[in-house]
Amino acid sequence: MNILAIDTSCDETSVAITDGRKILSNVIYSQVLLHKKWGGVVPSIAKRAHEERIDFIVKEATKKFQVPNSKFQTIDCIAVTQGPGLAVALEVGIKKAKELAKKYNKKLISVNHLEGHLYSPFVQNSRGNPKIDFKFPYLGLIISGGHTEFVIFKNHLEYEVIGSTLDDAAGEALDKTAKLLGLGYPGGPVIERLAKEAGNKDFHNFPRPMLKSNDLNFSFSGLKTSFYYFLRPCVIPSDGAKATESRNLDIRQLASSFQEAVFDTLIKKTERAIKQTEIKRLIVGGGVIANLYLRKLFRDLVKRHNGSVLFPSYKYLTGDNAAMIGVIAGFKAEKGLFVKNIDGLDRIPRFNIS
Ligand code: KG4
Ligand code: ZN
Repeated sequence: MNILAIDTSCDETSVAITDGRKILSNVIYSQVLLHKKWGGVVPSIAKRAHEERIDFIVKEATKKFQVPNSKFQTIDCIAVTQGPGLAVALEVGIKKAKELAKKYNKKLISVNHLEGHLYSPFVQNSRGNPKIDFKFPYLGLIISGGHTEFVIFKNHLEYEVIGSTLDDAAGEALDKTAKLLGLGYPGGPVIERLAKEAGNKDFHNFPRPMLKSNDLNFSFSGLKTSFYYFLRPCVIPSDGAKATESRNLDIRQLASSFQEAVFDTLIKKTERAIKQTEIKRLIVGGGVIANLYLRKLFRDLVKRHNGSVLFPSYKYLTGDNAAMIGVIAGFKAEKGLFVKNIDGLDRIPRFNIS
């Protein structure tokens, strides 16, 4: 079954065509350059950029797949991300999905974006790689710009959230800190590079939030604040007065130490989750797992517990993409989970998985 899937949950406009777990076509148009100078995603800019590009991206995705653009005969269903995400951005994708479903008389499937990140390690390229099979249950961890969540992935489309962030997400903490250091947006990749140059070591020992609490929740906003207070005496105030301290701070060491605090927290909490759930098969999805050093830390962790870990096989599947949405839609279609009232489908900006 061929599915045309749309994801406009944040700052990537993406359209894919999938068949089961295989990607036949996947076009991602990133808005990063538009948001860069603001140090984060600006909703009104995101909305306009999605609106301006969505038709072009649908066309590109179908062109690659050689669907005669006017008819959509080879497409069986339309799928779309319903949430979570930016309301004004989600609306653009949902509107387009409804329009296509009605115009071409196709069934519509709505998908939770977080499910997408959980399934992302199972998404295959057009040749059907990677050829891994499902071995439920998994302990899932989603680490993105908007979410940090532990999920027991019990079976297809069956989840239980067992921990999440109480404030900032891990990626958000990296982005905000990079902004503070004047490193631009998104922060994760540049912090990864600087930390690598510093040897991925911990120079400043920033706090590891929530490690003392017995639950599986995270909180990264305090860490960001303590980083700010550490930096503040050395920063030149905007009124032109002198900085109160002139320590020699090395930006690589700062980036490395901050990254270390975030990743150490993720790894230690995951270790706790493995012990509590006794599930040793790990899945990690979301933009932050593009980080190669973090992948190594997860590999080391599961080795210590005789477990295993799956990541998205291709870098473009770590961040936001419509291919992962299409793959889930395939499983939903098998169960007949179609949208009953197409006109009534609405975005859910805070959409939990359950
Ligand atoms: O999954 P994603 O593309 O979008 C959301 O659903 O939020 O994740 C974006 C997040 C950003 O916070 C970005 O800084 C982070 O992923 N990120 C990284 C890396 N590449 C992207 N974090 C650490 N290391 C990276 N290489
Ligand atoms: Zn995402």
